[in-house]
Amino acid sequence: MTGSLWCVGVGPGDPELITRKAARLIETADVVAYHRAGHRPSTARAIAADLIPDGVVEEELVYPVTTGEIDHPGGYHGAMAAFYLECAERLGAHLEAGRSVVLLAEGDPLFFGSSMYVHDLLAERFDAHVVPGVTSVSAASAGLSTGLCLARGRAHRAARHPPRHRDGAPPRRHRRRRHHEAGPHLRERARSTRPGGPARARLVRRAGEP
Ligand SMILES: C[S@@+](CC[C@H](N)C(=O)[O-])C[C@H]1O[C@@H](n2cnc3c(N)ncnc32)[C@H](O)[C@@H]1O
Repeated sequence: MTGSLWCVGVGPGDPELITRKAARLIETADVVAYHRAGHRPSTARAIAADLIPDGVVEEELVYPVTTGEIDHPGGYHGAMAAFYLECAERLGAHLEAGRSVVLLAEGDPLFFGSSMYVHDLLAERFDAHVVPGVTSVSAASAGLSTGLCLARGRAHRAARHPPRHRDGAPPRRHRRRRHHEAGPHLRERARSTRPGGPARARLVRRAGEP
């Protein structure tokens, strides 16, 4: 019987933000795989280091390029496509042998994560799953204590006392109004990041890291 692939999000950096499901899968995996740049260790592995069992098979998937020039006939995209195929072959060999493979991803695997490409290459042939993680966007928002999509005025008051149908769902009209009022707020935020606009945008590095 073939093994299962688990693409597991390990969150933005703080090991306490790893989900219990992710922790259980990492602790019981036959193979733990992760991507890393050639010039530094894997961030995803560092986040989950305490959970990786001693002696487990590790598959390091080293990017052929991160910055700078690439010597590949297909350029950057050609090199990356070939690399993802190679990753799928390496992990596919473990799956053929019946091993469970956990592919670690920073944050959430499907939010700009390399594992989504590897997942897509393997999911038709093998049992494949994705375990979501806390994204860097959520960690940055939490780090600033600032909502990403704040509603204003009536919507804010309504949020505290939302009208409810008997089945518990908000009435359709109320849902529409909240959406409408959140729109201008987001446009205002976008304007504030333009040159000459009020300096309200803030850059967050290493959000959610201990
Ligand atoms: C390839 S994307 C992966 C995003 C990740 N899958 C997620 O859910 O957040 C990597 C980029 O996400 C951003 N990033 C990842 N972790 C971060 C953190 N803890 N704080 C701020 N930015 C982070 C950085 O810009 C980094 O170059």
